[in-house]
Amino acid sequence: MPNNFYITTPIYYPSAKPHMGHAYSSIIADFFARFKRLQGSNVFFLTGTDEHGLKIQRAAEKNKMDPKLFCDQISKTFRDLSTTLNLTNNDFIRTTEQRHHKSVENIWNILEKKNEIYLSKYSGWYSVSDEAYYNEDEIETVDGIKKSKSSGSTVEWVEEESFFFKLSKWEKPLLEFYQKNPKFILPDSRRNEVISFVKSGLKDLSVSRKSFSWGIKVPNNKDHVIYVWLDALTNYLSALNYPDIKSKLYQSFWPATLHLIGKDILRFHAVYWPAFLMAADIPLPERVYGHGWILSGEEKMSKSKGNILDPLEIINKYGLDPLRYYLIKEVSFGNDGNISQDKLEDCINSDLANNYGNLCQRVISFTEKNLKLSIPNKIVFNDDDLKILNIFKNEHDNLIKYIDDQDINSYVNFIINQLFAANKYFNDQEPWKKKADIERLNTIVYVALELIRKITIMLNPIIPESSNKVLKALNLNADKIKFDEIKTHESLPQGKKINKLDILFKKIDKND
Ligand code: MSP
Repeated sequence: MPNNFYITTPIYYPSAKPHMGHAYSSIIADFFARFKRLQGSNVFFLTGTDEHGLKIQRAAEKNKMDPKLFCDQISKTFRDLSTTLNLTNNDFIRTTEQRHHKSVENIWNILEKKNEIYLSKYSGWYSVSDEAYYNEDEIETVDGIKKSKSSGSTVEWVEEESFFFKLSKWEKPLLEFYQKNPKFILPDSRRNEVISFVKSGLKDLSVSRKSFSWGIKVPNNKDHVIYVWLDALTNYLSALNYPDIKSKLYQSFWPATLHLIGKDILRFHAVYWPAFLMAADIPLPERVYGHGWILSGEEKMSKSKGNILDPLEIINKYGLDPLRYYLIKEVSFGNDGNISQDKLEDCINSDLANNYGNLCQRVISFTEKNLKLSIPNKIVFNDDDLKILNIFKNEHDNLIKYIDDQDINSYVNFIINQLFAANKYFNDQEPWKKKADIERLNTIVYVALELIRKITIMLNPIIPESSNKVLKALNLNADKIKFDEIKTHESLPQGKKINKLDILFKKIDKND
């Protein structure tokens, strides 16, 4: 059933070029977007860059550049990465765009009009790296330097006139909202974290800064720029033509279905954002999913820690699909995941080359040698055949549920199990010994090709390029496939030709 599905990635800070953590969020979001399209949904997938605030201003100063020119340069590397990662985003938003300024000013004016904002003075800790305010109890002193306990970033003391958003007023409504919408924040561990943070008491939030200028000006007080998180979060609306709420995009896609974010920015998305929206009387998104961190060694991969794995280097060396597959499969979704080139190589060899690649190659070669690449006809399924084919039909609804619950690992495990089962089926059925029984030989080959078709459809959102090659070999149109087609057993046109398939994944010699 076609329905509307709006998925977003965080908008990335263009303070330095993208790394594997950014690639991870984007690849996962792309996986969901592709899956939902395969299911027939009308999808809008948004990504972009978050370009205002002190963090960016300082990064530009450090590079002796005008902040806008600096952002133009680095934002482009994020946009280029979207192409390199084969993302199917429908838009790429930059917060320095006029359409976004208009939308942020509009939200600000609504909040001001509704008396949700007042002018006062902020004195407290601020982390420029996180663009976040921290309470005294969230700070620790390490080697004489004050740092945020949660992120480890250095904080500085700020004292200045500031506009405040009446966040405290939304404490109860937020708790009620979490209660009524138990799946608003996932996974559950993050939900609990947010609930206990809100229960511990919310203070009003400083939503403007006066001591620097790189941002969107407060409409009625040009001495202030709007807090970069109020600015940034609004991007999710700006891309849908907000404040034009009659526009087709806004009407079709707001409220967002899924904000996919890293766990580091949960508070902004699961507390501040719904509070801003409630206060402005705008419907709330359906879900915020906070995934874990990509770790290098035991630490979060980040520019400031200098332990970056460059996605471009990895893609140049191993190809894009192996990286997409590895990140989606290897990291237990929702938790932190340690990645390494060594494990990536193991994954390419075992799952992609030996399991999927091998299945496709041997079945298609067998069809070439014995059936001149024709899809067999005169087929009669026996119980063994129906058993393995029916698994997909029987599990179809569960597979969709996995995706709707963001349980990516169960989805991938199903694929891996079916790959093993399909290889085993081909071995056990020994079609090479059935040359005297052409009906049985035909049926085994047909079943094996059908299994490849079903698995390839399932793999399409994960490794689109390789999946498309196999679909092409099977003479199927990649643009027309639908997820529901994994349920059918006789989709391949009998008697028609298939095509030869080049090696899909090269095995890596680990002794090299
Ligand atoms: N600009 C803000 C987000 C604003 S959204 C309205 C921001 N940007 S960021 O560039 O610092 O990071 C954005 C996201 O990148 C993180 O939330 C996370 O999704 C992803 N990652 C950055 N480093 C990461 C890892 N090491 N591991 C996994 N993802 C991480 O925060």
